[in-house]
Amino acid sequence: MDKAQQDALKKAAGIEAAKLIEPGMIAGLGTGSTVRFFVDELGRRVQEEGLTFTGVTTSVRTKEQAEGYGITIVDVDDVDHIDVTVDGADEVDKDFNGIKGGGAALLWEKIVATNSSKIVWIVDESKVVDTIGAFPLPVEVIPFGAGHVVKLFESKGYKPVLRLDADGQAVRTDEKNYVVDLHLERIEHPEELAQDLITTVGVVEHGLFLNMVNTVIVGDPNGPRILT
Ligand code: 5RP
Repeated sequence: MDKAQQDALKKAAGIEAAKLIEPGMIAGLGTGSTVRFFVDELGRRVQEEGLTFTGVTTSVRTKEQAEGYGITIVDVDDVDHIDVTVDGADEVDKDFNGIKGGGAALLWEKIVATNSSKIVWIVDESKVVDTIGAFPLPVEVIPFGAGHVVKLFESKGYKPVLRLDADGQAVRTDEKNYVVDLHLERIEHPEELAQDLITTVGVVEHGLFLNMVNTVIVGDPNGPRILT
C-alpha cells in the first residue's frame, strides 16, 4: 500500500469516527496523522453545520489544530468525564489490545483514555495484527537517570532505543520526557510486560493500551469497518 492509499483509508476512518460526536458532548481528541483527518472533519462540521462540542486534547499539536477550527478545548482537569475519545493506534490485535505512542503522545493519550466513558480507535488496515510487538513499543521515561533505565531494559532483552529527532537530539514529549522504543518484535504476554514497565523507577508510562478500547474503526478499501 502506498502512502496516498494509506492516507485515503485513514481519512475514511476519521470521517466515520466524526459521526460519533454529537452536539454538547465532551470529546477526547487523540493524536497522529489519522486523528488529523478526524479533527479536520469535526472542524468542517463546526464551521458548516454549526456543531458545538467541547474537546479535550491529547497533545499540544492536536490542541492547535482543533482551536484553529474554533473548537472549544478545555483541560482534562476542567471536566468530570469525557463522553468519547477517538484516537489512532500503531498496532491493534483482535482483542482490541494495542500499541500507541508512535507520535510520542502516549502519556496524555492514556490519561485522557482512562477518563473516557468510551474509547474508539481509528486505524488503516495495516495496523491490525495477530500479535502486537512488531511496532517498537514506546516507553516514556524521565530524563534524569534515563541511561540507567535503558541499561536495565538492555539487560532484560527489551532492545531499547532512545528516540532521536532528525537533528540527533532526544525527542521530548509534551511533558519534556524522553521516549525509549523497545524492539520486541512479538509481545506474547502484554499484561506481564505492562506490569514490569510501569513498576520500573523512572518510567512514567508505556504504550501498551490493554482492555481499554470499545470500538475500532478500520479504514478498508471497501469502506470503513466498525469493529465492536
Ligand atoms: C501518538 C499515537 C498515534 O495515535 C499513533 O502513533 C498512530 O499515529 P498515526 O495515525 O499517525 O499512524 O499513539 O502518540
